[in-house]
Amino acid sequence: MTYLVTGASGHLGRLTVRALLDRGTPAERVVATARDTTAIADLADLGVTTRRADYDDPASLAAAVDGVDRLLLVSGNAFGERVRQHRAVIDAAVAGGVGHLVYTSAPHADTASYLIAVEHRGTEEALAASGLSHTVLRNNWYLENYTDNAATALQVGAVHGAAGTGLVNGATRAELAEGAAAALLDDAHDGQVLELGGDEAFSMGDFAAVLSEVSGREIPYVDLPADDYAEVLVGAGVPGDMARALADSDAAIARGELHDDSRALSRLLGRPTTSLAEAVRAALA
Ligand SMILES: NC(=O)c1ccc[n+]([C@@H]2O[C@H](COP(=O)([O-])OP(=O)(O)OC[C@H]3O[C@@H](n4cnc5c(N)ncnc54)[C@H](OP(=O)(O)O)[C@@H]3O)[C@@H](O)[C@H]2O)c1
Repeated sequence: MTYLVTGASGHLGRLTVRALLDRGTPAERVVATARDTTAIADLADLGVTTRRADYDDPASLAAAVDGVDRLLLVSGNAFGERVRQHRAVIDAAVAGGVGHLVYTSAPHADTASYLIAVEHRGTEEALAASGLSHTVLRNNWYLENYTDNAATALQVGAVHGAAGTGLVNGATRAELAEGAAAALLDDAHDGQVLELGGDEAFSMGDFAAVLSEVSGREIPYVDLPADDYAEVLVGAGVPGDMARALADSDAAIARGELHDDSRALSRLLGRPTTSLAEAVRAALA
């Protein structure tokens, strides 16, 4: 069996390749792809086959899937372009005889109304229409989305957002990568849609409370209307489109669209997932 992981130059793809190896997959059975293979030279050093694959270049995709049995399509980050790009990967997988495709989607992408979910829904629909055997991993928000902002929040003295009291089931990228590796390796999950998130549901207020506890200072959560929050993000240097998408996602959290208590990830991993407090303490240590 040969396994291919796209987006291996990114955080999740690289962690998934490593998780495949950690689970005993021989390196010669693993293909890692990136737009620029020099970015994954570290994986080649581990014995993994590296190939170029650009979602915007169908010829590169056709060559990349040669001999591949099971493929993880890590969703790209070109917001607004992704359905077309991912369809190109699906088409290449069908034409190349790939047996199964695993796709990284977003929470409740079939029913949720936030912009990011709507785009992932487009890929899920393309997959369903392709007839290709597939698994959908609806990855919840990375805990790193919060821990990466912890130092800034402590500097500013507050957490800002537009998520109200809504709950998120965040999980670490490493846990979601391990889940992706498990779904690639075990055909028991073929045909399934898995909502993958952390066991713990937390709000932005909970995040501020953890920061207060860890720092010994009172760090409040300041809830803003989504448009105002987008402006705060732009002021902090986030590009406009991305800022609007993030504020839109926060509004979705407020509506409960990122909450999921299925615990499918901890079942996949065979252990409880990392809590927000553990992740924040580790990030600030
Ligand atoms: N759940 C969450 O909280 C969350 C947060 C952010 C993003 N996401 C989604 O999850 C995905 C994986 O997360 P991540 O942390 O690994 O993101 P990341 O580190 O930004 O990695 C994104 C990967 O996508 C690749 N990519 C982008 N456009 C491509 C194209 N045209 N052709 C081939 N590869 C392309 C990038 O390749 P290059 O190195 O060549 O740029 C990179 O390897 C993201 O791309 C995004 O769709 C989820």
